[in-house]
Parts: sequence; C-alpha cells; structure tokens
Amino acid sequence: MKEQVNMTTADDLILGLDKSTDEVAWDLYRKAIRFGTWDPASIDLTRDKKDFAELDEDLKGYLIHFCTGFLDAEENVALKFCPWIMLGSSTEQQAFLSTQLLEEFKHTQFFMRYFQEVFGRERISGVKNVVQQKLDDRVKTMLAALELGEEEREAALVEGLTHYQGVIEGVQAMTGYEVFEAVYGSKGLLPGLAEGFARIKEDEGRHVGFGLRMLKLLARNPLHAKRIDALLNEYLPHILIRYDQPIIVDGKEYPTPPEVRGRERLTKMYQRRYRDIFGKQASV
Ligand SMILES: [Fe+2]
Ligand SMILES: [Fe+2]
Repeated sequence: MKEQVNMTTADDLILGLDKSTDEVAWDLYRKAIRFGTWDPASIDLTRDKKDFAELDEDLKGYLIHFCTGFLDAEENVALKFCPWIMLGSSTEQQAFLSTQLLEEFKHTQFFMRYFQEVFGRERISGVKNVVQQKLDDRVKTMLAALELGEEEREAALVEGLTHYQGVIEGVQAMTGYEVFEAVYGSKGLLPGLAEGFARIKEDEGRHVGFGLRMLKLLARNPLHAKRIDALLNEYLPHILIRYDQPIIVDGKEYPTPPEVRGRERLTKMYQRRYRDIFGKQASV
C-alpha cells in the first residue's frame, strides 16, 4: 500500500507544469530507483500454466496472438530506445530515460518467460503493428538530429515522444491492459499475467507520464503543436486497427472475443491522450 501512494499510476498520468522538466525527470528517476524494482523472474506462473491448459481453444489462440503482440512490441521498443535518451537535454532527463530503457527489457523478459513457461512454445510470426514498424525510420531521424542544432533536436524529440510515449505506450499498450482485463483478468484467470501487467503498467505510468508532460509543455510552441497534431492524425488509421486484425495462429484462424472491442477502446484512449496534450477534444 505504501508504494501505491508514491507511484505514478497509469490512470493519473498528467504531471503538473509547476515544476521544471528537470525536477520532474529527477523525481521520476528517483521513483524508478526506489519502486521500479520488481523482478520478472519471480512472478509465480504456476496457476497460469494450469489455467492456460484448461482454457477453451478460441481463448488459447487469442491469448497466444495477444501476448505475441506484447512481446514483439516490448522487445522492439527496448531495442530502439537509445536515441530518446541521447536527445534528453540534461543529466536529469537522461537519468530518468535510462531507467525506461532497462524497464523495457524487463517487460520483454517477462513475456519471453511467459512463452517459455506457460505456453511452452515460441511466439508466432506475422502479428501486424504498422506504428511499431515506423520506429525504424524514427530512430534514423532522431540519430541524424543529434548532429543538428537545438531547434532540430527539439523537433525530433517532439516527434519521438509523440510516436513512442504518446501513441505506442500511451494509446496502444494502455488499451492492451484493458483488453487483458476484459477477456481474462476480470474472470480471475491467469493471475501471473495479471500481476505482470500490473507491474508493467506502473512502469509505463512513469514513461507515459513523463512523455505526456513534455508534450503538453512543448505543445505551447505552435510549431511543435502542429507537429504533434500532424503525427497523431497520420497514425490514427493504423492505431485504430491494432486489435482488429485476423487472429491466425499456426495457420488456423480464431475469433476475436466479443469483450475486446478494440476500435472503441482505442478511440477513447486516443482521445484521452489528445486531451492530455492539448486540453481539448480530438476530431476522430
Ligand atoms: Fe514496456
Ligand atoms: Fe514503456
């Protein structure tokens, strides 16, 4: 309980603008040091193994597809995160962002372990996520900006924060936690996965909290506001189909459980993030 009080949770993401960015970054860095200490190797997965074996085939298929999406995403963001740290403009900002790098690898480790110990198999291939694929180009743009002037670096960081913290973590991942809860967690299934998601969500609260707070501040500059809005609009069609793709596992197609309601949840989350940054409704 003590920890809860001190943690930034995913539901309370927007940090005030009263403190300086460096103060906020340092507070979050200290929070990560003190509270971000969970170990992906020590979550008990015994019940999950039993629950998974007893799940009906459709829910098994959906879970493998769903967790592949998470493993792919966590691994991809971990591998690509260094330029965000390098573009941080102070020791405090880079210190906080360095905790995020380690945490993304911990999230990756948790899902790797889940595949090995609960599913007893490798992840599947072919789970689509266009927004994730676009990180390849994003990384190149951000690395190139390191050689440019302060304005260009800030512009590259604004787009990087919108793409990563705003869209991937702030909209897609946060919607994923809701989907898990609706389909499995609320039925008391897979307690180890529920605990993993709870721990990951706490980490993501710091990541998204810092990103959104930066974007809210940077959006006061009309040029940056335009950049953020343009990127969100460009990605919107790709964002909204994230949980609506055909569920194909080992060549067999499975139905999407009715509780998923992907488009509806993603639209709501997108609007929430837009409001966090601009203080007004997005036109979707
Ligand atoms: Fe993560
Ligand atoms: Fe994250």
